Amino acid sequence: MSAESPKNVILLPQTNQLLSLYTIIRNKETQRSDFVFYSDRIIRLLVEEGLNQLPVEPKTVSTPTGEVFEGVKFLGKICGVSIIRAGESMEQGLRDCCRSVRLGKILIQRDEETALPKLYYEKLPEDIASRYVFLLDPMLATGGSAIMATEVLLSRGVKPERIFFLNLISNPEGISNYHKKFPDIKIVTGAVDRGLNESKHIVTGLGDFGDRYYCI
Ligand code: PRP
Ligand code: URA
Repeated sequence: MSAESPKNVILLPQTNQLLSLYTIIRNKETQRSDFVFYSDRIIRLLVEEGLNQLPVEPKTVSTPTGEVFEGVKFLGKICGVSIIRAGESMEQGLRDCCRSVRLGKILIQRDEETALPKLYYEKLPEDIASRYVFLLDPMLATGGSAIMATEVLLSRGVKPERIFFLNLISNPEGISNYHKKFPDIKIVTGAVDRGLNESKHIVTGLGDFGDRYYCI
């Protein structure tokens, strides 16, 4: 999809290594410990790509060889906001890259019958409006949960161009629903699947991410 990716959708390079990780986590025979381990590897790649989207300024350092290196350094402060429960699985990957990163949480659950999201709880850093925000949720299905979470962020003063929504699996309907509301927010995803089934689960998909990561 990369060549014809819609605007503001950043798809991880579809390397054989990435495909092998997805092959493991999509397999219904995969046991929980492997599901966690290989999901975490994908999450790390998503975080690295999210960081890659942030602005930098030039920075020159001297090396032990007596030379100078003309590099860059990141501008600004970041934080992560996970959509509980499944989004919490992505927090450690962010911490692994950004020590002592600030984290906020939003509890949204999809109603199992209607697939409609319901907001239960939010706790966000006080200064979130001055930060770049990585919104964390592994699954973008209808987009309802991510849309609700993004509305919370905007209501706290975060600018759309400072939000990056990181997910493992998306699909065209969810992307389109999300971008109809927030065309300027970048979606960083590892896979764009075919669509949704009648239960609003992603197909090809991997089933219920939260259950597989935390419970079974
Ligand atoms: C899952 C997933 C997303 C949501 C995606 O969460 O983690 O938050 O569904 O679906 P949507 O795009 O149609 O809103 P779920 O509500 O099942 O809760 P969980 O995190 O406890 O698994
Ligand atoms: N949430 C999941 O965990 N999986 C789906 O396919 C859709 C929503």
